[in-house]
Amino acid sequence: MTKENYKEALQDPIFSSITQAAKEISVDCYVIGGFVRDYLLKRGTAKDIDVVAIGSGIELAKKVAQKLPNKPEVTVFKNFGTAMIKHNGIELEFVGARKESYHRDSRKPIVEDGTLDDDQRRRDFTINALALSLNQENFGNLLDPFSGISDLEKKILRTPLEPGITYSDDPLRMMRAIRFASQLNFTIHPISLKAIAENNGRIKIISNERIVDELHKIIASKQPSIGFSLLNKTGLLHYILPELTALQGIEEIEGQKHKDNFWHTLEVVDNIAKTTDNLWLRWAALLHDIGKAPTKKFDKKIGWTFHSHEFVGAKMVYKLFKRLRMPLNDKMKFVQKMVLMSSRPIVLSNDSATDSAVRRLVFDAGDYVDDLMTLCEADITTKNTAKQKKYKNNFKIVREKIIEVEERDHIRNFQPPVSGEEIMKTFNLKPSKEIGIIKDAIKEAILEGDIPNDYNAAYSFMIKKGKELGLHINH
Ligand code: CTP
Repeated sequence: MTKENYKEALQDPIFSSITQAAKEISVDCYVIGGFVRDYLLKRGTAKDIDVVAIGSGIELAKKVAQKLPNKPEVTVFKNFGTAMIKHNGIELEFVGARKESYHRDSRKPIVEDGTLDDDQRRRDFTINALALSLNQENFGNLLDPFSGISDLEKKILRTPLEPGITYSDDPLRMMRAIRFASQLNFTIHPISLKAIAENNGRIKIISNERIVDELHKIIASKQPSIGFSLLNKTGLLHYILPELTALQGIEEIEGQKHKDNFWHTLEVVDNIAKTTDNLWLRWAALLHDIGKAPTKKFDKKIGWTFHSHEFVGAKMVYKLFKRLRMPLNDKMKFVQKMVLMSSRPIVLSNDSATDSAVRRLVFDAGDYVDDLMTLCEADITTKNTAKQKKYKNNFKIVREKIIEVEERDHIRNFQPPVSGEEIMKTFNLKPSKEIGIIKDAIKEAILEGDIPNDYNAAYSFMIKKGKELGLHINH
């Protein structure tokens, strides 16, 4: 076994407190998992630290807490045999070494009778099984029985045990493999990849919350297509997001083909990942075309159509979020809005964008108009460089027009310049449909550019409209 030492990774005083506490209760302990991996990958210092004790993790946690100046609270998860302490913005998790894998769903008590080696072999990947000693006599020594360092160097995800065993211990690990591949740009060992494809149906027993956590991480990675193409290749995507796999394939009728909307979608997500870290905008990119599968039709005259796919897609967003138990809140509404409006700027950029069309776009998109433009720019995936240049330039013009129109007309957070109350007062009206008609007519006149967005113009317009409706002014 290697004798490498990484005590420089353990400079935070918390580690010496753990060393002291462990010594007092005569328990050996090690820092393991993500902290060690990320240190070696130079990904910065992790905020989560996992400590494995050769004995009771809960007891060690309690002893550590006593030693810390602010005596933090120890949260004990009895069912999992773990204990957690929050200290200086760091989350420390303590666990006793295990011989057997633990099952979240099992009622069997957790037996903490393993050695470090037993514990390491029950972990998901060799790169996550790397441990650094916190014991006084060999503080900082690396323990790497499964060649995790070599896998880190080769950028390979490999399971310490036969992959079938590791993945059946916790099928979420199949997604974790793909998530790490996407996040770290690593390759999944071919035998592991095969095991994932063979066991893909087991993902059904994993809760949606845990699946979505991994999806978020894939979407947040630099090149999300790495993760999504692996999810697709292994068959997991079909279980998780069938709306996406339904977009796959190219059909040809009478010599007319449509593009493969699945691969197009992945390109759009990669494109948008270059310009924004907004997770929900990235989700919108992933889902922007999902309405295309159920709306696809072939028309002898015009070829392939996806009529109303934006509208159908926006409805599917709600169902998808609900199924995956994602929040049905303003984030979901934002994604829906992006999907619903995803073709609007494209139409604008094809024709020369009129002021009124731009005003309507800003009115409908409100504060999200910039996000919508970002999505549409990412949607340009043509390989024809002349076309690509043309579309990009057209969007640039639309963006400039948005700024110009916004400076002049202030449509973004449109407030009617004349209130319903004033309309009622002017014409001596009780609440009635006429008020709505007049308010709408004012809004339309502003959006069309017939009148400017100001009080005087709107007031005169209201009088004119009221007269047309046969209303009398209240003197
Ligand atoms: N682990 C595992 N199987 C899982 C989840 C976690 O074996 N299904 C082990 C791994 O050794 C992992 C450690 O528990 O390194 C901590 O897990 P977690 O905090 O979820 O992940 P990290 O590896 O720290 O990575 P990240 O913070 O990016 O999620």
